[in-house]
Amino acid sequence: MIGIVGGSGLYELEGLEVVERAFIRTPFGEPSSEVVVGRLEGKEVCFLSRHGKGHKYPPHLVPYRANLWAFRELGVNRVLGISAVGSINRLFKPGDFVVVEDLLDFTKGRKDTYYEGVYSIPVCGEDKPAKLLREGKVVHIDSSQLYCPQMKSVLVEVLEELKLPYHPSGTYACTEGPRFETPAEIRAIERLGGDVVGMTGYPEVVLARELTMCYASLCVVANPAAGIAGYRLTSEEVINLMKQKEEEIKEVIRKFIAQLPQERTCGCDKILEGAEV
Ligand code: HPA
Repeated sequence: MIGIVGGSGLYELEGLEVVERAFIRTPFGEPSSEVVVGRLEGKEVCFLSRHGKGHKYPPHLVPYRANLWAFRELGVNRVLGISAVGSINRLFKPGDFVVVEDLLDFTKGRKDTYYEGVYSIPVCGEDKPAKLLREGKVVHIDSSQLYCPQMKSVLVEVLEELKLPYHPSGTYACTEGPRFETPAEIRAIERLGGDVVGMTGYPEVVLARELTMCYASLCVVANPAAGIAGYRLTSEEVINLMKQKEEEIKEVIRKFIAQLPQERTCGCDKILEGAEV
């Protein structure tokens, strides 16, 4: 099943025929919001709002581990994260879509793994993640291809077919927030190879991968990053842009769900093979 995580400006998924609103408690705390389970394009889909109702969780306090665990409990094995970003690469303009290819992590002290060795939370379940947690294993997942190649290629296909402005590849830099970056930070990230900057892409992706899920990140450029913009950045600008793009984002999601093949041919499910110490 596909799970969608809606970011700033995307708090629900219209058109989803709601089957259930699941309020799930997890061993990792409560998720940001209820998980809406329903049908879209004839397929079972889950939707969760990353920042919760009324945007109550700032990026550094989003309960990422609970969110992904709630998805796992509902049988989600593929996650599509939607996020607003600032652009660093001058070719990326406000309103452009970006299919994320790689990641730079500049967050500080977020809980970014389920596998804490002897400190792991023992959980119920018969799948590999649950067993590794119960056994208190140390696990190092490969991060050389965090974003699912199959999901990425379907996203690109959909964006092409819809004739939307997009970039088929980009490196996402995740900062801690909640403040926007300084111009010097953006210059540093640019030198390190970052194309876009956001505050929520990490650790969502690695937590999904630790649970053997596929993960893809679809970003929408909301503003030029600090120092590039030449003006003061505001949340208002980000939210307004995301509101403007809402219909397009929903169209991309619908078509993506319709066109994603049922079978996972990517190998993302094998990430835990050889990963435990
Ligand atoms: N920086 C960090 N996160 C963001 C930005 C930005 O410029 N725009 C939207 N999310």
